[in-house]
Amino acid sequence: MSAIPDDIFTEPDVDPDALKNLGPLRRLAGVWEGKEGIDLNPKADGPQRREYTERIEFEVIDPQANGPQLFYGLRYHTHILATDEDATFHDQVGYWLWEPATGLIMQSLAIPRGQVALAAGHASADATSLVLTATRGQTGYGICSTDFLEQAFRTDSYRIEVTFNPDGSWSYVQDTILIVHGKPFEHRDVNRLVKIAEPKPNPLMLLGKD
Ligand code: HEM
Repeated sequence: MSAIPDDIFTEPDVDPDALKNLGPLRRLAGVWEGKEGIDLNPKADGPQRREYTERIEFEVIDPQANGPQLFYGLRYHTHILATDEDATFHDQVGYWLWEPATGLIMQSLAIPRGQVALAAGHASADATSLVLTATRGQTGYGICSTDFLEQAFRTDSYRIEVTFNPDGSWSYVQDTILIVHGKPFEHRDVNRLVKIAEPKPNPLMLLGKD
């Protein structure tokens, strides 16, 4: 939405078929697996490099209106295992949202170590890549952490770049800049995801179908 209208309550008509209205996020809908993950994370004696496998589910949600502002989107859960360990290596939930009127893309993310972020970028419906960023201290697209993380592993910025590959897979490069013992640390994650299941229609589309 470019300007805030006087009427902030009236909602627009929505198309119940959310899958059709996801713009560039249409290519993420479904269930994905990635076996080429590489993580660089901070450890006491320096950066640690780990390889990982990942499963991400993107479920299509019903259209979301904030008064006149309208989003279509996906709810996601990513679960990551290091290749040499059974315990969860990383877990994350959130939403990817698309505002057709402006091309705004948002990712809200929550990590169970006590951290949330809202990242944003812009893209056209047929974009082949997406770049979203969040910056600590911003009230709009910012990052919030526990007091411990804020002091010991302050997270200054987050950036994700998604590339849709010609073979239907997609890749991401994710850079999270932490301040550890007063120095910047580039916490980087990369992976390529391959589709293993198609998405289901959103709940509104399923109404009355059984
Ligand atoms: C594929 C995605 C990610 C993976 C696999 C991953 C993995 C890890 C691992 C293994 C550690 C070290 C944990 C430990 O030593 O106990 C770590 C630390 C950390 N990560 Fe991530 N991470 C990912 C994404 C993110 C994102 C998106 C953020 C924030 C926006 C983030 C913030 C942090 C912070 C603040 C720490 C330091 C705190 C700590 O070590 O407990 N990570 N990450």
